[in-house]
Amino acid sequence: MAVALKKLKLSLLLSLFFLVSASSFAKVPPTCRRIECPSYDVIHAGDGYEIRRYNSTVWASPPPFLDTSLVEATRTGFRRLFDYIQGKNDYNQKIEMTAPVVTEVAPSDGPSSESLFVVSFYVPRKNQVNPPPASGIVVGRVKPVYAAVRKFGEFVRDNNVGEQVAALKASIAGTEWSSAIEKSQRGVHGSVYCVAQYNDPFEFDDRVNEIWFLFDVENGRHFVES
Ligand SMILES: *[C@@H]1O[C@H](CO)[C@@H](O)[C@H](O)[C@H]1NC(C)=O
Repeated sequence: MAVALKKLKLSLLLSLFFLVSASSFAKVPPTCRRIECPSYDVIHAGDGYEIRRYNSTVWASPPPFLDTSLVEATRTGFRRLFDYIQGKNDYNQKIEMTAPVVTEVAPSDGPSSESLFVVSFYVPRKNQVNPPPASGIVVGRVKPVYAAVRKFGEFVRDNNVGEQVAALKASIAGTEWSSAIEKSQRGVHGSVYCVAQYNDPFEFDDRVNEIWFLFDVENGRHFVES
Protein backbone atom coordinates (compact mmCIF):
# COMPACT_ATOMS: atom_id res chain seq x y z
CA MET A 1 0.00 0.00 0.00
CA ALA A 2 2.66 2.43 1.12
CA VAL A 3 4.82 1.45 -1.81
CA ALA A 4 1.97 1.85 -4.24
CA LEU A 5 1.24 5.24 -2.78
CA LYS A 6 4.87 6.22 -3.08
CA LYS A 7 4.90 5.08 -6.70
CA LEU A 8 1.77 7.04 -7.38
CA LYS A 9 3.28 10.10 -5.77
CA LEU A 10 6.45 9.67 -7.75
CA SER A 11 4.63 9.31 -11.05
CA LEU A 12 2.50 12.30 -10.20
CA LEU A 13 5.58 14.28 -9.43
CA LEU A 14 7.26 13.13 -12.61
CA SER A 15 4.30 13.95 -14.80
CA LEU A 16 4.06 17.31 -13.12
CA PHE A 17 7.73 17.87 -13.83
CA PHE A 18 7.34 16.98 -17.49
CA LEU A 19 4.23 19.05 -17.80
CA VAL A 20 6.03 22.03 -16.36
CA SER A 21 9.22 21.61 -18.34
CA ALA A 22 7.57 20.77 -21.63
CA SER A 23 5.10 23.58 -21.45
CA SER A 24 6.99 26.47 -19.95
CA PHE A 25 6.22 28.39 -23.13
CA ALA A 26 2.73 27.07 -23.69
CA LYS A 27 1.85 27.92 -20.09
CA VAL A 28 -0.39 30.94 -19.90
CA PRO A 29 0.92 33.54 -17.46
CA PRO A 30 -1.30 33.30 -14.33
CA THR A 31 -2.19 36.97 -14.77
CA CYS A 32 -3.91 36.16 -18.06
CA ARG A 33 -6.42 33.93 -16.28
CA ARG A 34 -7.59 36.96 -14.31
CA ILE A 35 -7.35 39.79 -16.83
CA GLU A 36 -7.35 40.02 -20.60
CA CYS A 37 -4.09 39.54 -22.51
CA PRO A 38 -3.69 40.01 -26.25
CA SER A 39 -3.99 36.71 -28.07
CA TYR A 40 -1.45 35.51 -30.60
CA ASP A 41 -0.59 32.57 -32.77
CA VAL A 42 2.60 30.63 -32.21
CA ILE A 43 4.29 30.42 -35.59
CA HIS A 44 7.37 28.52 -34.47
CA ALA A 45 8.64 27.04 -31.21
CA GLY A 46 12.42 27.30 -31.25
CA ASP A 47 15.18 26.38 -28.84
CA GLY A 48 14.93 29.02 -26.11
CA TYR A 49 12.65 31.24 -28.12
CA GLU A 50 9.23 31.35 -29.70
CA ILE A 51 7.97 33.18 -32.78
CA ARG A 52 4.50 34.67 -32.37
CA ARG A 53 2.19 36.61 -34.58
CA TYR A 54 0.00 39.27 -33.04
CA ASN A 55 -2.91 40.38 -35.19
CA SER A 56 -3.81 44.03 -35.54
CA THR A 57 -5.03 45.36 -32.18
CA VAL A 58 -5.42 48.67 -30.38
CA TRP A 59 -2.80 49.83 -27.88
CA ALA A 60 -2.46 52.94 -25.74
CA SER A 61 0.78 54.67 -24.78
CA PRO A 62 2.09 58.00 -23.63
CA PRO A 63 4.41 59.60 -26.22
CA PRO A 64 8.02 58.31 -26.28
CA PHE A 65 10.32 59.84 -23.67
CA LEU A 66 13.97 59.64 -22.63
CA ASP A 67 15.16 58.10 -19.39
CA THR A 68 18.25 56.38 -18.05
CA SER A 69 16.36 53.57 -16.30
CA LEU A 70 14.01 50.99 -17.75
CA VAL A 71 12.43 50.44 -14.34
CA GLU A 72 11.82 54.15 -13.81
CA ALA A 73 10.56 54.64 -17.35
CA THR A 74 8.10 51.78 -16.98
CA ARG A 75 6.85 53.24 -13.70
CA THR A 76 6.42 56.71 -15.25
CA GLY A 77 4.69 55.37 -18.35
CA PHE A 78 2.49 53.06 -16.36
CA ARG A 79 1.33 55.88 -14.06
CA ARG A 80 0.06 57.77 -17.08
CA LEU A 81 -1.66 54.69 -18.48
CA PHE A 82 -3.19 54.00 -15.09
CA ASP A 83 -4.73 57.49 -15.02
CA TYR A 84 -6.07 56.84 -18.51
CA ILE A 85 -7.79 53.58 -17.55
CA GLN A 86 -9.05 55.06 -14.29
CA GLY A 87 -11.14 57.49 -16.36
CA LYS A 88 -8.79 60.38 -17.10
CA ASN A 89 -9.86 60.38 -20.75
CA ASP A 90 -12.29 62.26 -22.98
CA TYR A 91 -15.17 59.87 -22.16
CA ASN A 92 -14.44 59.72 -18.42
CA GLN A 93 -14.62 56.02 -19.02
CA LYS A 94 -13.01 53.38 -16.84
CA ILE A 95 -11.18 50.68 -18.72
CA GLU A 96 -10.21 47.32 -17.35
CA MET A 97 -6.59 46.50 -16.73
CA THR A 98 -4.88 44.17 -19.18
CA ALA A 99 -1.46 42.53 -19.29
CA PRO A 100 1.32 42.77 -20.17
CA VAL A 101 2.67 46.28 -19.81
CA VAL A 102 5.13 46.55 -22.67
CA THR A 103 8.15 48.83 -22.51
CA GLU A 104 9.89 49.36 -25.82
CA VAL A 105 13.52 50.35 -25.47
CA ALA A 106 15.59 52.07 -28.14
CA PRO A 107 19.06 52.45 -26.64
CA SER A 108 20.85 55.58 -27.77
CA ASP A 109 23.68 54.92 -30.17
CA GLY A 110 25.67 57.92 -28.99
CA PRO A 111 27.61 58.41 -25.78
CA SER A 112 24.41 59.26 -23.87
CA SER A 113 23.20 56.74 -21.32
CA GLU A 114 19.62 57.69 -22.05
CA SER A 115 17.29 55.44 -24.00
CA LEU A 116 14.04 56.24 -25.69
CA PHE A 117 11.09 54.46 -24.08
CA VAL A 118 7.56 53.75 -25.19
CA VAL A 119 5.33 52.17 -22.55
CA SER A 120 2.17 50.54 -23.91
CA PHE A 121 -0.92 48.81 -22.75
CA TYR A 122 -3.23 46.55 -24.78
CA VAL A 123 -6.74 48.03 -24.95
CA PRO A 124 -9.38 45.43 -23.95
CA ARG A 125 -11.25 43.87 -26.84
CA LYS A 126 -14.56 45.48 -25.91
CA ASN A 127 -13.00 48.98 -26.03
CA GLN A 128 -11.13 48.51 -29.30
CA VAL A 129 -13.93 49.74 -31.56
CA ASN A 130 -14.22 53.09 -29.82
CA PRO A 131 -11.30 53.57 -27.43
CA PRO A 132 -11.53 56.83 -25.46
CA PRO A 133 -9.09 59.48 -26.69
CA ALA A 134 -7.10 61.38 -24.08
CA SER A 135 -4.63 64.20 -24.16
CA GLY A 136 -1.12 62.88 -23.60
CA ILE A 137 -2.05 59.34 -24.59
CA VAL A 138 -1.63 57.92 -28.05
CA VAL A 139 -4.35 55.37 -28.78
CA GLY A 140 -4.08 53.54 -32.03
CA ARG A 141 -4.32 50.35 -33.97
CA VAL A 142 -1.03 48.63 -34.62
CA LYS A 143 -0.31 46.53 -37.70
CA PRO A 144 -0.03 42.77 -37.39
CA VAL A 145 3.43 42.06 -36.08
CA TYR A 146 5.70 39.13 -35.39
CA ALA A 147 7.64 38.73 -32.17
CA ALA A 148 10.61 36.60 -31.22
CA VAL A 149 10.05 35.95 -27.54
CA ARG A 150 12.10 34.84 -24.56
CA LYS A 151 10.46 34.28 -21.17
CA PHE A 152 12.06 34.88 -17.78
CA GLY A 153 10.96 35.16 -14.15
CA GLU A 154 12.02 37.44 -11.31
CA PHE A 155 11.56 41.15 -11.02
CA VAL A 156 12.72 43.18 -14.00
CA ARG A 157 15.71 45.26 -12.99
CA ASP A 158 17.93 47.60 -14.92
CA ASN A 159 20.78 45.15 -14.48
CA ASN A 160 19.12 41.87 -15.45
CA VAL A 161 17.45 42.75 -18.73
CA GLY A 162 20.64 43.01 -20.80
CA GLU A 163 21.53 39.36 -20.29
CA GLN A 164 18.03 38.27 -21.36
CA VAL A 165 18.22 40.38 -24.50
CA ALA A 166 21.63 38.91 -25.27
CA ALA A 167 20.33 35.38 -24.69
CA LEU A 168 17.41 35.91 -27.06
CA LYS A 169 19.76 37.36 -29.64
CA ALA A 170 22.04 34.33 -29.28
CA SER A 171 19.20 31.82 -29.56
CA ILE A 172 17.91 33.28 -32.84
CA ALA A 173 21.35 33.79 -34.37
CA GLY A 174 21.68 31.75 -37.55
CA THR A 175 18.02 30.77 -37.66
CA GLU A 176 15.70 31.53 -40.55
CA TRP A 177 14.33 34.45 -38.52
CA SER A 178 17.54 36.31 -37.81
CA SER A 179 17.75 38.42 -40.97
CA ALA A 180 14.13 39.63 -40.77
CA ILE A 181 14.67 40.52 -37.11
CA GLU A 182 17.94 42.31 -37.76
CA LYS A 183 16.36 44.28 -40.57
CA SER A 184 13.54 45.45 -38.29
CA GLN A 185 15.98 46.35 -35.55
CA ARG A 186 18.02 48.59 -37.79
CA GLY A 187 15.16 51.02 -37.52
CA VAL A 188 15.32 54.70 -36.79
CA HIS A 189 16.64 54.12 -33.30
CA GLY A 190 19.04 51.27 -33.87
CA SER A 191 18.64 48.12 -31.83
CA VAL A 192 15.18 47.94 -30.31
CA TYR A 193 13.60 45.47 -27.93
CA CYS A 194 10.54 45.29 -25.72
CA VAL A 195 10.17 44.11 -22.14
CA ALA A 196 6.69 42.72 -21.46
CA GLN A 197 5.75 42.49 -17.77
CA TYR A 198 2.70 40.50 -16.70
CA ASN A 199 2.61 41.13 -12.95
CA ASP A 200 1.85 44.08 -10.77
CA PRO A 201 4.67 45.23 -8.49
CA PHE A 202 3.18 43.55 -5.41
CA GLU A 203 3.12 40.02 -6.73
CA PHE A 204 6.15 38.08 -5.59
CA ASP A 205 5.35 34.67 -7.03
CA ASP A 206 4.73 33.48 -10.56
CA ARG A 207 6.40 36.46 -12.10
CA VAL A 208 6.41 36.31 -15.88
CA ASN A 209 8.33 38.66 -18.13
CA GLU A 210 9.25 38.42 -21.75
CA ILE A 211 11.75 40.02 -24.09
CA TRP A 212 10.22 40.69 -27.48
CA PHE A 213 12.01 41.49 -30.72
CA LEU A 214 9.19 42.78 -32.89
CA PHE A 215 9.62 42.29 -36.59
CA ASP A 216 7.90 42.31 -39.89
CA VAL A 217 8.16 39.46 -42.34
CA GLU A 218 5.32 40.33 -44.66
CA ASN A 219 7.75 41.43 -47.37
CA GLY A 220 10.42 38.91 -46.61
CA ARG A 221 10.84 35.38 -47.87
CA HIS A 222 10.30 33.89 -44.45
CA PHE A 223 6.61 33.59 -44.19
CA VAL A 224 3.83 33.09 -46.65
CA GLU A 225 0.38 33.77 -45.24
CA SER A 226 -1.58 30.56 -45.60
C1 LIG B 1 -5.32 36.28 -36.55
O1 LIG B 1 -5.91 36.50 -37.81
C2 LIG B 1 -5.97 35.34 -38.62
C3 LIG B 1 -6.50 35.75 -39.99
O2 LIG B 1 -7.68 36.48 -39.88
C4 LIG B 1 -6.84 34.29 -37.93
O3 LIG B 1 -6.89 33.12 -38.69
C5 LIG B 1 -6.25 33.99 -36.56
O4 LIG B 1 -7.09 33.09 -35.87
C6 LIG B 1 -6.09 35.25 -35.75
N1 LIG B 1 -5.36 34.92 -34.54
C7 LIG B 1 -5.72 35.32 -33.33
C8 LIG B 1 -4.86 34.89 -32.22
O5 LIG B 1 -6.70 36.01 -33.12
